[in-house]
Amino acid sequence: MTSTPKRKTPEELRSHRWYGAKDLRSFGHRSRTAQMGYHRSDYAGKPVIAIINTWSDINPCHGHFRQRAEEVKRGIWQAGGFPVEMPAMSLSEPFQKPTTMLYRNLLALETEELLRSYPADGCVLMGGCDKTTPALLMGAISMNLPSIFLPAGPMLRGDYKGQFLGSGSDTWKYWAELRAGNLSEADWQGVEDGIARSPGHCMTMGTASTMTSTVEAMGLTLPGAASIPAADSRHAQMASLTGKRIVEMVWEDLKLSDVLTPASYDNGVVTALALSGSTNAIVHMVALARRSGFELPLARYDELARGTPVLANVRPSGQYLMEDFFYAGGLRALLRELGDLVDTSQRCVNGHSLAENIEGAQTYNADVIRPRSNPLLAADGLAVLRGNLAPDGAVIKPPAATPALLVHTGPALVFDDYNDMNARIDDPDLDVTADSVLVLRNAGPQGAPGMPEWGQLPIPKKLLAQGVRDMVRLSDARMSGTSYGACVLHIAPESYVGGPLALIRTGDLIQLDVPARQLNVLISNDEMATRRALWVAPPPKFERGFGAIYLKHVSQADKGCDFDFLETLPVKDVGANVSASNGEPEIH
Ligand code: FES
Repeated sequence: MTSTPKRKTPEELRSHRWYGAKDLRSFGHRSRTAQMGYHRSDYAGKPVIAIINTWSDINPCHGHFRQRAEEVKRGIWQAGGFPVEMPAMSLSEPFQKPTTMLYRNLLALETEELLRSYPADGCVLMGGCDKTTPALLMGAISMNLPSIFLPAGPMLRGDYKGQFLGSGSDTWKYWAELRAGNLSEADWQGVEDGIARSPGHCMTMGTASTMTSTVEAMGLTLPGAASIPAADSRHAQMASLTGKRIVEMVWEDLKLSDVLTPASYDNGVVTALALSGSTNAIVHMVALARRSGFELPLARYDELARGTPVLANVRPSGQYLMEDFFYAGGLRALLRELGDLVDTSQRCVNGHSLAENIEGAQTYNADVIRPRSNPLLAADGLAVLRGNLAPDGAVIKPPAATPALLVHTGPALVFDDYNDMNARIDDPDLDVTADSVLVLRNAGPQGAPGMPEWGQLPIPKKLLAQGVRDMVRLSDARMSGTSYGACVLHIAPESYVGGPLALIRTGDLIQLDVPARQLNVLISNDEMATRRALWVAPPPKFERGFGAIYLKHVSQADKGCDFDFLETLPVKDVGANVSASNGEPEIH
């Protein structure tokens, strides 16, 4: 006989401390809720569900989130909950400067504090555009309430002159052709008009698709949620079902810590690898795991990469787009194809195991979602490099690189920072050949700051004219998940804090050997020590404001770029004392 899981009583709800007490403060909460037009029967004894919505007028990837929030609320009302929408900063990838990564931890902090300071019993996290997914989850993991993620869904395929266009990937491609003189301004404008033609996040396997798929594989969404295009009516249905489910999760007291285990993190990593997902996912997964109190070292990523085939034939590593991936069966089909490479005993937010959630999933196009017997790549969707240039690691995405460049030795051409690179890269007199190794420094977590996606250094114009389309490039920056090329990224420690990248000079020979997982500069240890003694630390980039907080507390890429004071500290739920008299919210 199976026992019925214990369910919370209304008096055990966290929100009961705000609404259920018979004191002056709860009078204030109830009277102010009445001010918003709600009768006490709308909320009394019901779970209060915070909907953390990253909609804004400046985030096109979340353009549908205003409406989706209404659909989430519909589900919450129907299931007997009380929805409360709470806007949070949007982190709009195309608009926010210098990079949304500078603000990922700020959204994480905002999410955690919204949940802590208001009467939330559970939450729906609405995100998708690159950093929003990890940020929302980092905050929610630290708060550890029942939480479910609602992915924004990919936008429709881009279209120009009957050709499908992929976010980012085709931007880089056509930009190179424009610079090489092979594309007219009119065609470039046509690409501009057609590449993003619906709400939703980038529809290549960029960071957004990688992260939403990864968190679905970790059990944090309803099954199949991450693959549904934003414009598809099934996305609206999924939003409503998500609202229904979170209410039950509160009664069941199913928290993120009940779902997230080392095995579920491994499932996330394997999924990201099988998708040939964005290198950015590594930084985010490390940060998420550390919030959960688990170490996810780069070595574990590399170990899993060696045994995981790439099955998703999606750009930039493959041919298709997320809309095709959805029609081919979506993530559930891919997870089923992965078979014993994922631990399907893991529990998911819908209360079922991953095995139950992918049962019956089918692949409808075996070219888009490949079987393990016919992978796009047998292994090594990502590789972690070490050597005297990257003592704490660096990453490269082999399937996005020209194979011949994966083992390469060439002379460094060093750019001191992004402005230096922009000033010189297209100089006709630049001393560069296709064998050169382009090096960008001061582009890491502190140096840029914010570790922007500058890692796909542009090919010098004079080489583009010669037909060169890929070169070995090194940096402590990140790279868009929609980018491609032989780009070594996330070099740690970064140059700004004195990592070896700060010490190399133009002309030094750089040796990249991806099969051996090595990245070295061919100079002696003595020479390295001499240069180190001469190195002078650059001044801080910020003296005040959030930037100053960021510089003081951000960790290096191999540690996830989280703030030291947010990583694994035990979270104290100050809401527990909300009706006490000291340090409490004011009565208004
Ligand atoms: Fe939002 Fe790419 S710009 S996901």
